[in-house]
Amino acid sequence: MDLIHRVAELRARLAGEPSVALVPTMGNLHAGHLSLVAEAGRHAGCVVTSIFVNRLQFEPGGDFDRYPRTLEGDCAALDRAGCQVVFAPDEAELYPEPQEIRIVPPESARQLCGDFRPGHFEGVATVVAKLFNIVAPHTAVFGRKDYQQLFVIRALVRQLNYPVAIVGAETVREPDGLALSSRNGYLSSEERTEAVRLNRNLRRIKDLVESGRRDFGALCAFAIKDLTSAGWRVDYVALRNQSGLAPPGPGDRDLVVLGAAWIGKTRLIDNLDIRA
Ligand code: PAJ
Repeated sequence: MDLIHRVAELRARLAGEPSVALVPTMGNLHAGHLSLVAEAGRHAGCVVTSIFVNRLQFEPGGDFDRYPRTLEGDCAALDRAGCQVVFAPDEAELYPEPQEIRIVPPESARQLCGDFRPGHFEGVATVVAKLFNIVAPHTAVFGRKDYQQLFVIRALVRQLNYPVAIVGAETVREPDGLALSSRNGYLSSEERTEAVRLNRNLRRIKDLVESGRRDFGALCAFAIKDLTSAGWRVDYVALRNQSGLAPPGPGDRDLVVLGAAWIGKTRLIDNLDIRA
């Protein structure tokens, strides 16, 4: 496996590779990330994993500074997972000048996480566009755990005509249902025990909607109340259709329930597909 820090060196390494799949990450890799690498390996002979903590997508006062940076361990794990190339640029390499040209995300990104993290999806879309231009992959793999992010990336690829096939990979979870996340490392042991409550509430909504309930507002309000009573600060719990991330209409069958909430100083997100 090659560890590359420079754009020019990466381009030279990939020249002549017949098929390249990209897995963009911010590092501190866990089994969820590694499942994306395995998926990427099913689509290409050369898997490139990028590791870059992207300042542009963190809101002021966010956890950019304390975000865990564990390059050495990440590289060992990626090597074992069958990754061919790690691209780990520093900020000066990716943003050698102020990044004034940015990608404006679609309207559908100005809700849910977009409401609570202004500028977040602009920062994500901009860095992913840069990575697509640098790596020129024919496939890129993203986790369904970041459902709205995947939605924005699909729009980016359609609307800017990137010749990149986007693959969405299933969420990898702990045995109790908690979605793996680099931010789980922030949780105290009491918070870790409590953290599964978000998933449990989403699962309850999924089960009820799949057995015929249509009072979506009441179901979400119940979940918000349950989380709030247990000491969480809820950003949102919401039901949307999968096609447009819009509130479900009468004909919508493929839905998704999404939630984002704070436990102590840690913000967790999760979502579950629903077939209504
Ligand atoms: P990061 O949070 O490091 O996540 C990298 C990729 O791993 C994303 O596609 C994310 O959805 C996926 N992922 C995270 N947890 C997962 C889990 N439990 N199961 C499956 N996949 C999981 O998302 C980002 O970085 C950044 O926004 C990025 C796209 C790299 C742009 O900076």
